[in-house]
Amino acid sequence: MPDEPLVLGIETSCDETGVGIVRGHTLLADALASSVEQHARFGGVVPEVASRAHLEAMVPTMQRALDDAGVTLADIDAIAVTAGPGLAGALLVGVAAAKGYALAADKPIYGVNHLAAHVAVDTLEHGPLPEPAIAMLVSGGHSSLLLVDDLTAGVTPLGATIDDAAGEAFDKVARLLGMGFPGGPVIDRTARAGNPAAIAFPRGLTAPKDQLKHRYDFSFSGLKTAVARWVEARERSGEPVPVADVAASFQDAVCDVLTSKALDACRQHGVETLIIGGGVAANSRLRVLAEERAAKLGIRVRVPRPGLCTDNGAMVAALGSHLVAAGVAPSRLDLPADSAMPLTSVTVAG
Ligand code: KG4
Ligand code: ZN
Repeated sequence: MPDEPLVLGIETSCDETGVGIVRGHTLLADALASSVEQHARFGGVVPEVASRAHLEAMVPTMQRALDDAGVTLADIDAIAVTAGPGLAGALLVGVAAAKGYALAADKPIYGVNHLAAHVAVDTLEHGPLPEPAIAMLVSGGHSSLLLVDDLTAGVTPLGATIDDAAGEAFDKVARLLGMGFPGGPVIDRTARAGNPAAIAFPRGLTAPKDQLKHRYDFSFSGLKTAVARWVEARERSGEPVPVADVAASFQDAVCDVLTSKALDACRQHGVETLIIGGGVAANSRLRVLAEERAAKLGIRVRVPRPGLCTDNGAMVAALGSHLVAAGVAPSRLDLPADSAMPLTSVTVAG
């Protein structure tokens, strides 16, 4: 529909410089530049390196998005930008760029929450968000279960990781198996040749005693340590490490806990839709297990395609479009970047 808002979104919270353009729920452009290769030898994202890479990639990525969508900055109705949470220096580059473009082209600006954007991106693939929904966001920096009643007003956190994020666990286990960074995709691939039931790794915070205080929280650091001890014991005894079995069993432990807690939240809140987002949502085992278990409970699972699950500008544009359509007021032009932006704020208030 031509009267739907044309919104541009800028993402720089971690190591991806993303500029996306949407009209309503339709994706027109999703330009991305990643500095992931520059971090690989460090085994994790180096904030200063990420900030510099954003600075270098911002203008060309913006140009590519506008070209791909066949529009100019003058055509855009609003600019959305990730204001937090994320790496402070990296966020600052995106926020400063968004302010520059908004000022130059005289457009309203929305400083938005990165995690809410991971939820909103699903609208580009599956249409308007059914509310209420439970959202599970699993990435390199976060593992959260959220109750989404009204995405324009904020979301209710139900639980989160108490130590490592799910993606961080994939990255650390891949590192100890000598597989490189980021770990998720390579563990996912390696696990296909392995047996998920080969090794009984622990399922964090799933004991009956955890139901009271940590029903919807996650813990992956004990799992990571268990994998490390198991591999060490194998190496000490001089036996070869069955890498595919370790990867498959580890992956299964993570996916078992994630899906059972997410579906438990759906049941307890009488919610019929589970949305999964964040980089780990690209995991093939997580997708299959969530579908299988949800189907038995009559719960619908919505997971965007892998390219939309990892960080990108389209998700920021999708949230911006949702906010514009709902008549939410834009942020002020002097909006701050907030590396610890809470989930209760979807936008930086105007
Ligand atoms: O959402 P994202 O791109 O960035 C953050 O905001 O963190 O997520 C990146 C994380 C990394 O930890 C990466 O290992 C993980 O998502 N990841 C995966 C897969 N693809 C990416 N984890 C498991 N399986 C995958 N296929
Ligand atoms: Zn993310």
